[in-house]
Amino acid sequence: ADIQPLTGKHIVVTAGPTHEPIDPVRYIANRSSGTQGFAIAGALASLGAKVTLVAGPVALETPVGVNRIDVETALEMQGAVEAALPADVAVCVAAVADWRADCDHGQKLKKSKGGLPDLKLTENPDILAGLSKHIEKRPTLVVGFAAETENVIDYAAAKRERKGCDIIVANDVSHATGIMGGHENEVHIISDKGVESWPKLSKTEVAVKLALKIAEYLGK
Ligand code: C5P
Repeated sequence: ADIQPLTGKHIVVTAGPTHEPIDPVRYIANRSSGTQGFAIAGALASLGAKVTLVAGPVALETPVGVNRIDVETALEMQGAVEAALPADVAVCVAAVADWRADCDHGQKLKKSKGGLPDLKLTENPDILAGLSKHIEKRPTLVVGFAAETENVIDYAAAKRERKGCDIIVANDVSHATGIMGGHENEVHIISDKGVESWPKLSKTEVAVKLALKIAEYLGK
């Protein structure tokens, strides 16, 4: 068997949205399709990596050669990521819900005359920041994504500092770009070396280029 650039490397990828239950029939969700994250998992596996893909609820086929773990909530995603460590690289592509309902989800909420449900939210853990600051098992390379609708590069660079990851892949998801749920992506790669802007590419092409960049990063 020939040796590929990522042979022997374990890479954890998160992808898709999370669903946060409000009661047995309702949940908080977002528009992430999982397309970019799944493409990245597939591209990394094609370069020889052992890939653990922790996926939120999406309607996508598992890429060839990828070990997929399905989860629903942010807390489950965090648990699955933690259980998958150690890893050489983590790529957090998932659109993790920022908040979950802080209540007992046992029974369906009922409409009450004149009243609104007492729906309290609580903050979800930040999986990317947790990995970046992991004391015992920080991956060698931690990659995050930043979906912004304005000041894309500035906000993403600040996010990189705040979360402590090595690379942030920033993209503009304002409605007009059609990126969320679409098949193309236009990204900026932000690292300690500055900003590298890629042209608009298919999400598959972005995935292949990013996988090669990760291989290059680990190579030196
Ligand atoms: O803060 P924001 O959600 O914009 O950050 C986006 C990045 O952080 C993505 O890489 C996403 O996967 C990651 N993230 C996470 N856990 C959260 C929120 C975001 O891993 N709870």
